[in-house]
Amino acid sequence: EIYRASTTAPVNIAVIKYWGKRDPKLNLPTNSSLSVTLAQSDLRTHTTASCASAYPAEDSLLLNGSPQDVSGARTQACFRELRALRKELESKNNGLPKLSELPLKIVSENNFPTAAGLASSAAGFAALVRAIANLYELPSSPTDLSRIARQGSGSACRSLFGGYVGWEQGTAADGSDSKAFQVAPASHWPNMRAVILVVSAAKKGVSSTTGMQTTVATSSLFASRASETVPRRMQEMQKAIQDKDFETFAKVTMMDSNSFHATCLDTYPPIFYLNDVSRAAIKIVESINEAAGKIIAAYTFDAGPNAVVYYLEENEKEVAGLFKSILGEKEGWAGERGQTVTANNE
Ligand code: DP6
Repeated sequence: EIYRASTTAPVNIAVIKYWGKRDPKLNLPTNSSLSVTLAQSDLRTHTTASCASAYPAEDSLLLNGSPQDVSGARTQACFRELRALRKELESKNNGLPKLSELPLKIVSENNFPTAAGLASSAAGFAALVRAIANLYELPSSPTDLSRIARQGSGSACRSLFGGYVGWEQGTAADGSDSKAFQVAPASHWPNMRAVILVVSAAKKGVSSTTGMQTTVATSSLFASRASETVPRRMQEMQKAIQDKDFETFAKVTMMDSNSFHATCLDTYPPIFYLNDVSRAAIKIVESINEAAGKIIAAYTFDAGPNAVVYYLEENEKEVAGLFKSILGEKEGWAGERGQTVTANNE
């Protein structure tokens, strides 16, 4: 007999960035962060988890058709936590099949190229954790699952919720209070849009895991970002979302992206994620806002050169329209320079 469950998890793009770990094993961050979850229809991972006694003894993971290594500590941590919860259920109810003792087969598909460097690990681990939780019929809440997904990839904890999502850094050494929470559902501010400029589909130079460790160890700007700048911005951002105040949302988003990339430059040896095309995108956003006489567009960049630009639906023409007219609108995800995709939030 084969037991099986499927789920999808969307990509999230941070407006207050997670950068720095106080515990690299448990992915416990040095600051809280906040993101917008994109619509499932745009960028998402679809994952099926199954288990059977007839499977080969080793757990396995297939991503877009190619076998992945599951022996890494992060994947192992997710498997271990979920199996322990299933075991607990099984010990309480003798009638339950002992799924915790069967090998797992995970099959994942992204509807965008993994290589495009678009937060694929966030959607990937969120979907993996929820698919196994569904397979095991665990009574876990999104909050519980966010604590497990965090151990796969920090930013993954935020993809367990839709809409506007915070990740509370927490203080406990075991990570029990380092979890995601929903600031507001997407329906609270449903006209939020994002256009993504795929500047480069190449894999990023310095992985976020390595990059943030070097930043913590060497940057002198880092301490004040973590202890003063981000805590203040978390408050400002949550209020801006509650009030649907786009100008504040946008300004804080851009300033926090700039602060994160300044911290990267202040790392030794320095880390450069932005390139000339990224900087041109920043200039375009500035000119859009200048022409509008107010802030109607906000850029943000993760650990790579691709720009995500947030705007409200009513400004579609001025923002996404301008990018598309400059760069040309193309279908699909060939990952050529300057491709755009428009994303809803969900
Ligand atoms: C710049 O979540 O990929 O995108 O925990 O090491 O897997 P690990 O890092 P990851 O880092 C994301 C960094 C970021 C900012 C963010 O998403 O908050």
